Amino acid sequence: MKDIKKYIDQHKDRFLNELIELLKIPSISADSAYKKDVLKTADEIKSSLEKAGCENVEICQTKGYPIVYGDKIIDKNLPTVLVYGHYDVQPPDPINLWDSPPFEPVIKKTELHPEGAIFARGACDDKGQMYMHVKAMELMTQTNQLPCNVKFMIEGEEEVGSASLADFVKENHEKLSNDVILISDTGMIAKDTPSITTGLRGLSYVEVEVTGPNRDLHSGLYGGAVANPINVLTKMIASLHDENNHITIPGFYDNVEELSTEERAEMAKAPFSLDNYKKALDIDAVYGEAGYSTNERNSIRPTLDVNGIWGGYTGEGAKTVIASQAFAKISMRLVPNQDWEEITQLFKKHFESIAPKGVTVKVTPHHGGQGYVTPIDSIGYKAASKAYTDTFGKTPIPQRSGGSIPIVSLFEKELKSKTILMGFGLDSDAIHSPNEHFGVWNYLKGIETIPYFYHYFTALNK
Ligand code: BES
Ligand code: MN
Ligand code: MN
Repeated sequence: MKDIKKYIDQHKDRFLNELIELLKIPSISADSAYKKDVLKTADEIKSSLEKAGCENVEICQTKGYPIVYGDKIIDKNLPTVLVYGHYDVQPPDPINLWDSPPFEPVIKKTELHPEGAIFARGACDDKGQMYMHVKAMELMTQTNQLPCNVKFMIEGEEEVGSASLADFVKENHEKLSNDVILISDTGMIAKDTPSITTGLRGLSYVEVEVTGPNRDLHSGLYGGAVANPINVLTKMIASLHDENNHITIPGFYDNVEELSTEERAEMAKAPFSLDNYKKALDIDAVYGEAGYSTNERNSIRPTLDVNGIWGGYTGEGAKTVIASQAFAKISMRLVPNQDWEEITQLFKKHFESIAPKGVTVKVTPHHGGQGYVTPIDSIGYKAASKAYTDTFGKTPIPQRSGGSIPIVSLFEKELKSKTILMGFGLDSDAIHSPNEHFGVWNYLKGIETIPYFYHYFTALNK
């Protein structure tokens, strides 16, 4: 591997500026008002892949937002890396909590990022991390050291469930055939503690609706005499956890894989400071399922959380009213072996069964997906581990993440290949939150590390 640092050094300002231009386009997949911007982003990705040296670059139309594909096949007998990423972003709300506008990227120094970090929606999730691969591709082609075949598949609906991508993958086995799938859409422990994500949680996302009387009522004239849908909904939600914070849905834990004492001891070796964790979030205590550590609670254990709850009067001042309806959005993070569709049915059945007389309950499933774990003895993992060891000077720690990329399990099922999750973000990068950012150092380190992965993956396959 030659000239990698030199090439990055010579081109880093342009690498940053190009990413900043991409971040200016509000590609919010959840909000149809931004349709033009999402489509424009796909066009930009297409031309960036062409400039990076990809061939057969195309915008593949779907029922939803397009998938950008491009490849470079140098020799059919060499291995093929399939890079996946997403160009859509989460909505930026609440806008007033941003220190600078979400689609006007700025570079600012922070305590963890003294070299500066790019502040913008999508900076880390996933435009910044996806773009590292485009720039690494450019680097490898420009310095004549692309060692194997590459395919890029960048989608625009990850943040809303990847529905079109699922169809695309099912219909394009041949086009997408590969030896390993490479994704940077997760994080690492710290800048001086590299880690490789070896697991993702599954997800079941539902919306619930509780309906009481046929109209909003005066809370004096009717209060106490009829079921108040908001009171009922909050009571029902509270009952979904017991006093040990175990989830009470019958059958919920049936297929949960329990880790062995050895596996848990291995996990506990990863550096972690509870004090720093609490300090960073400004909380005086952590909270969660009895019998498990913080790192276990947010990775190997399933959870249930209300993501939004509404109903009744929330405007200025006071209005005395019993609302006719109350609503909530609930997500369940799942672990390997829990089937998301089965869990969704268990939730529905249970939630309907605990509704008291006087209200009706409706449960509407949104999207979901299976969890994923990847072995650490595969060629892909070994290649990634060697790559980090070269560029960080330390062997990376395998770590299971609490987040979800539901499409990864479908990749394995349809394309029969393993996924390597080389994430370069930090938990403190505030993805999905106001002031999302991505360290300049992390961005450049990613671009530096990726070519080593290609190198070792090709070498180990010989
Ligand atoms: N990139 C994230 C997932 C992620 C982040 C995994 C950090 C591990 C570490 C992805 O874009 C995401 O936000 N996924 C959603 C699920 C999706 C179906 C909306 C999630 O995890 O909430
Ligand atoms: Mn993402
Ligand atoms: Mn995301």
